[in-house]
Amino acid sequence: MVFYLISSLVALPYRRATILLTLALAFAAVLACSPSGKDDAIASPTPAATVVVVRSGEALFSGICASCHGLSGEGQPNWHIRKEDGTLPPPPLNGDGHTWHHGDGFLYKVVRDGGKWMESPDIPHFKSGMPAFGEQLSHDEIVGVITYVKSLWGDKTGRGMSIREWQAEVSLKDPFPAGP
Ligand code: HEC
Repeated sequence: MVFYLISSLVALPYRRATILLTLALAFAAVLACSPSGKDDAIASPTPAATVVVVRSGEALFSGICASCHGLSGEGQPNWHIRKEDGTLPPPPLNGDGHTWHHGDGFLYKVVRDGGKWMESPDIPHFKSGMPAFGEQLSHDEIVGVITYVKSLWGDKTGRGMSIREWQAEVSLKDPFPAGP
């Protein structure tokens, strides 16, 4: 019994050492198998695919348009009441306002050239707060962001029919301009 106790006391440090050594070897093995930073870069999506995702209409909308038109395109409250500077607050683009009355070509011009495009000496009271994005966005990006806006309309109806159908019909006469 005494012998057994002594031998286990002596053995204890060795056991600890064995456990520690095993742990150290396991750790080293994990380190050896884990990929280096370089391999990680190769395994991630290609830059081209990333650009397509980031540049999608939805990403463009939340990045550039949502600050004024709202994250879901809901617009600002009282959007139809003119402010002191003569401009209107940003309207809803989600199908609740009247965006869907306009054809694709009209919507394209509003985004490319801004609301200034609609200002005219014939309507002196009208001043627009919608900026122009023609310098910032390519043709495809403008079409993409408008296509995204149209996807927000869901199956809402107006004038007794689906507003998407209504807008599609108007767009037959007023389509997106041809690309560059
Ligand atoms: C600085 C605020 C601001 C930003 C940013 C902005 N808009 Fe506007 N937008 C407006 C205002 C204000 C109007 C109302 C224009 C008017 O009175 O002519 C408007 C009008 C519009 C209209 C016409 C709506 C209608 O029912 O006639 C469209 C379409 C539109 N914006 C799309 C966009 C898109 C797409 C983006 C992002 C690329 C964007 N806007 C970014 C302020 C903004």
